[in-house]
Amino acid sequence: MTSEIAVKMTGIVKKFPGVIANDHVNLEIMAGEVHALLGENGAGKSTLSNILTGLYRQDVGTVEIGGKKVEFNSPRDALNAGIGMVHQHFRLVSTFTVAENVVLGESDSSLFMDQKAVATRVQELSDRYGLAVDPSARIWQLSVGEQQRVEILKVLYRGARILILDEPTAVLTPIETTELFKTLRVMVSEGRVVIFISHKLDEVMAVSDRVTVLRGGRTVGTVNTRETSTTDLASLMVGRSVEFNRVVRQTPADRERIVLDVSDLCAFDDRGRVAIESVSLSVSPGEIVGIAGVAGNGQRELAEVISGMRPITSGSITVDGESVQSGRARSAIAKGIAHVPEDRLHTGLAAGHSVEDNFALKNYRSMSRFRILQRQQIRNQSTHLIEHYDIKTPGSETPVRLLSGGNVQKVLLAREFSASPKVLIAASPTRGLDVGAIETVRERLVQAADSGVGVLLISEDLDEILSLADRILVMYEGRIVAEVEAAQADRARIGLTMGGITA
Ligand SMILES: Nc1ncnc2c1ncn2[C@@H]1O[C@H](COP(=O)(O)OP(=O)(O)OP(=O)(O)O)[C@@H](O)[C@H]1O
Ligand SMILES: [Mg+2]
Repeated sequence: MTSEIAVKMTGIVKKFPGVIANDHVNLEIMAGEVHALLGENGAGKSTLSNILTGLYRQDVGTVEIGGKKVEFNSPRDALNAGIGMVHQHFRLVSTFTVAENVVLGESDSSLFMDQKAVATRVQELSDRYGLAVDPSARIWQLSVGEQQRVEILKVLYRGARILILDEPTAVLTPIETTELFKTLRVMVSEGRVVIFISHKLDEVMAVSDRVTVLRGGRTVGTVNTRETSTTDLASLMVGRSVEFNRVVRQTPADRERIVLDVSDLCAFDDRGRVAIESVSLSVSPGEIVGIAGVAGNGQRELAEVISGMRPITSGSITVDGESVQSGRARSAIAKGIAHVPEDRLHTGLAAGHSVEDNFALKNYRSMSRFRILQRQQIRNQSTHLIEHYDIKTPGSETPVRLLSGGNVQKVLLAREFSASPKVLIAASPTRGLDVGAIETVRERLVQAADSGVGVLLISEDLDEILSLADRILVMYEGRIVAEVEAAQADRARIGLTMGGITA
């Protein structure tokens, strides 16, 4: 690391109607460092990076790049100054290929663009930085992790010297995360700058050189990673000390009964390959069954199949003995299945609609008796949920897309948890949430189980599964390869099984 200041943001203020997202924020980043930006949901991290990338304009304050004051009026200006961003929510065109997405928006891109040359260049970058992805694949065929690599390739292709990654690991498996960290270290070793936004303290400790903490839109301070600890960072972030406890169950599961029964399921993935093979499992009322596994082993498809979003090729799904129609989300909802999908903004919510409309989206039938939307009832319910789930939003009518990433997720969780389901399918429910919000969501999950809901918890976070589940199933290559009672679970053993190694 050299002592050259690459980025200097001073006294940045950014207000939105009803919120001060950035309140005199200062940030100083050296060339050749991975600089972590840490803060609770809604602390102002994305806003600050959006200012740096020219997406928003600050109300007050200055930005200097390489010692020179800059004024960005668009992301293009920022890009010309060498700044590229990988957003929390991807901005790829799903019907286009990887290579097409990489060049999309390039000033000299045209219909006559040399596709082959682009693919070659993409391949080179992908090799050099360890970002494995097929340049000719279409975006919709890729996993979330692969799509992220496309986003990174896109900014590298444009020659960015300063890369901002907004919660990049939220969508990655532990192995992919390790790979990404290697990529980031290669980038900074070339003198580039990486701004790494994350909630995961371990990761911040593992990959960054320095950390700047934001709280409530203000800078709390900047520390050297080597001189701090996860405990210190957590208390800087929330302004009090945080303890991670195992949530205590009030009511044990009713193992005599079965609420969700899945038998001999088979299904394809988006590319038409077998994603789930002869999966059978059952969940009792009040039971939390954890599905552990490295992402991409059929978990997403399993969740989609059970919630009626993906057809099955064989097998059956029943809730309280009644069968759920294959590929019919309405049928799944009617039978009492709630679902927190992996991809919240696209499958879970209507981003352009208000918070309250999103709450009402699923129960509009019950709410719209006589076909009149009962606005007041919706508003009251919404106000209650906003409070109960501590959703930071200027109001009930604010469009969901204007909320911070973590708060978008809380909207979805609140809606699904409050639908009084019999079965709750939760895919990585705490991903992207800050420590405080993680505690809330875990408590809500346990409360749901305590009240008799059968919970299927799908997570790549083994610690989360170990701390919440009553029973653990391990998925590998589309099959359930192991089953253990949580009380008897051996962490190392499960880890091996997740990697396909069975004793
Ligand atoms: N375009 C916008 N319009 C209105 N309010 C906004 C807009 N963008 C952000 N906000 C608000 O500004 C505050 C800071 O949001 P920001 O997205 O910067 O938080 P964050 O630290 O990135 O949070 P998270 O960890 O949840 O992603 C939030 O209260 C958010 O609702
Ligand atoms: Mg954010």
